Parts: sequence; C-alpha cells; structure tokens
Amino acid sequence: MIMDILDVIRSRSTAKSFDGGSVDPDALDRILDAGRLAPSAKNRQTWRFVAVRRKDVKKSLSEACYGDPRLIDAGCVIAACTTNINYTMPNGQPSYPLDMAFAVSFMMLQAEHEGLGTSVLGTYDETAVKDLLTVPHAMRVVILLAIGHSSEKSAYKDRLPKDRVISYDHW
Ligand SMILES: Cc1cc2nc3c(=O)[nH]c(=O)nc-3n(C[C@H](O)[C@H](O)[C@H](O)COP(=O)(O)O)c2cc1C
Repeated sequence: MIMDILDVIRSRSTAKSFDGGSVDPDALDRILDAGRLAPSAKNRQTWRFVAVRRKDVKKSLSEACYGDPRLIDAGCVIAACTTNINYTMPNGQPSYPLDMAFAVSFMMLQAEHEGLGTSVLGTYDETAVKDLLTVPHAMRVVILLAIGHSSEKSAYKDRLPKDRVISYDHW
C-alpha cells in the first residue's frame, strides 16, 4: 500500500505560536508511541520522553527557554532525553543524536498527521531544564518538541534544489 507520507512531510512547517489549547490525550499517546517505535542503533532505545502538560511546569520551562511563549501556549512539550551518551557506532560516531532525531521526527510527523503544530526547540538552558524535570545529571536533554494547536505556521522555507543535495552513485 502506498501511503501519502510525503504529503504529511510537505504540509509540516514550524509552528510560530500556539493557541493555548490542550492536546487530546489519545492523540498525545499516539504521538509518543510514534517516538517509542522509532529505530535506534542496535535497538538500544536509550531514551526517555518527558511529556509536560502542567501549566506551571510549562511556564518554568518557558523561563528555561529564555521566555519563548510557545512553551506556555503549547498543549504539551516533550523533552526528548537520552539515557546514554556513550554508545559509538562502528562508524565512530555517537548514536544518540541520531536516535533522538529519528524519535522526534516520528513524533513530529504523527503530530502533523493529527492536525497539530510542532516546534523543535534547541534554545534552552539544559541545566535549568534538567533541574525542573528532575532529569538525572548524567543524562542529556537532547531537544524539546512543543506540540499544540497552531494557526500560525512559519512561511514555506525554500529547500535547496534536488541537484544540490542528491547525487547518484558518486558525490
Ligand atoms: C535541531 C533543531 C533545532 C532547532 N531549534 C530551534 C529553536 O531553538 N528555535 C526555533 O524557533 N526553531 C528551531 N528549530 C526549527 C528550525 O529553525 C526550522 O525547522 C527550520 O528553519 C526549517 O523551517 P520549517 O521547520 O518551518 O520547515 C530547530 C530545528 C532543528 C531541526
């Protein structure tokens, strides 16, 4: 069966704001499940997704994100954390940034499919976020994903043309 995943990918763009509405718990469960089902190196699944829904915690999270209001107005903010930064793949590269990127990508696309907006946020004080969410200090908060109802998406951003980024059989 051919699924229209490319349509979901094409329709997604970063939410510039959220309307403060909550995210349906069943939709949130499916979004988190999409992350749980993502691939990871050696299937180690060294991740933990901390889903923040409480208003007071989101407000503190916003402070740790230098006042970004999206953290308050999103229905949920998922702190995508890794539980192990030490595993190196046979190619010599650490696996955790990729593992987390796959999981967050899967969650973003499921959220888009649910009709929700998303913002990936790497602008935060990691120590402050760890303290707030009681993340053990040996772990890392790799990225935040804000999810909610949004009518303000960022304008379509040009992507480099195919012939700049894709080649076949050689560089
Ligand atoms: C790893 C990563 C970190 C990002 N951090 C931020 C951020 O801190 N603040 C922000 O507004 N957008 C952030 N973004 C969103 C990107 O700026 C955005 O995805 C990019 O400009 C392409 O736009 P689009 O998502 O609308 O297609 C981040 C995206 C990624 C993948």
